[in-house]
Amino acid sequence: MSITGIDAVTFGVSDLAEAKRFLDDWGTTPVSATTYQTRDGGQLIVRDQNDPALPPAIEPGNTVREVIWGAADAESLAALLDRLQGLNPRIGPDGIPRVTDPNGLSIGFRVTQRTDLAIAPTPSNGPGVANRINQRSPVYDQARPAKIGHLVVFANDFAAMRQFYTERLGFTVSDEYPGHGVFLRCKTRGEHHNLFILNRPGRPGVNHVAFTVADIHEVIGGGIAMSRKGWKTEIGPGRHPISSAYFWYFHNPLGAPVEYYADDDYCTEAWQPQEFVRKPELFAEWAIAGGIDGTTRRQIVATDTSGRGHA
Ligand SMILES: [Fe+2]
Repeated sequence: MSITGIDAVTFGVSDLAEAKRFLDDWGTTPVSATTYQTRDGGQLIVRDQNDPALPPAIEPGNTVREVIWGAADAESLAALLDRLQGLNPRIGPDGIPRVTDPNGLSIGFRVTQRTDLAIAPTPSNGPGVANRINQRSPVYDQARPAKIGHLVVFANDFAAMRQFYTERLGFTVSDEYPGHGVFLRCKTRGEHHNLFILNRPGRPGVNHVAFTVADIHEVIGGGIAMSRKGWKTEIGPGRHPISSAYFWYFHNPLGAPVEYYADDDYCTEAWQPQEFVRKPELFAEWAIAGGIDGTTRRQIVATDTSGRGHA
């Protein structure tokens, strides 16, 4: 399909300085007064939540105000815009065509400005198999997110959102909690999900924004660094059985939690989507509730208050 991934996310926040301090610590790179980048050039734009230039918020408080999806090239972008006929995309001064998705979120489309980034994870050794020879595994003192991997939203009208992203935008279903949640990938051959839609009638919103890192060592080292800098864990580290990814979620001044994750499933046309019934062990095979203290390297709390136990 023509969409390659998330090119940019714009946040409307109440405290710009605090939001930027978080993004500095998170390991993204400032490129202007309001824009940070992941290693592949994915953009995080922070603006005052009352900035009149921002699209409307889909929920109160700090939150995502817009997502720009990237297309592979001009031809793909044109094909994509053909699929939006009848929705009357509006074109701003930046030339980006935008529509509003069924959840009320502004989404735009452009030829991707991200680079194709290939970062090899640390090889693992197994019994009788040596993939890492005369080389120690790394200990990261800071994560540097490779890209904006996925967005998770609460849908006011779940069926309409599922239909819009699969039929209009051509996303592929990777796995599903029927009627409750659907994991979608924008490329048939690609990472397990770039968008996860959760059903929550009457309260649309953002559940989290996730950043891809190289491997589990960068999840752990990055999370410990955030903890050492005083940022609070929502839940993690842990591992999702659906998508297989290692994760660590943090509270932040951008809005909903943000996530470091690594080693998610890569799917092709041969991937078999599954339907699951919600249960806590499908959100996390294992997880540490309140994170790991950055100084003592011990678990901070033993009680899960994240509310994520139900996937
Ligand atoms: Fe996630």
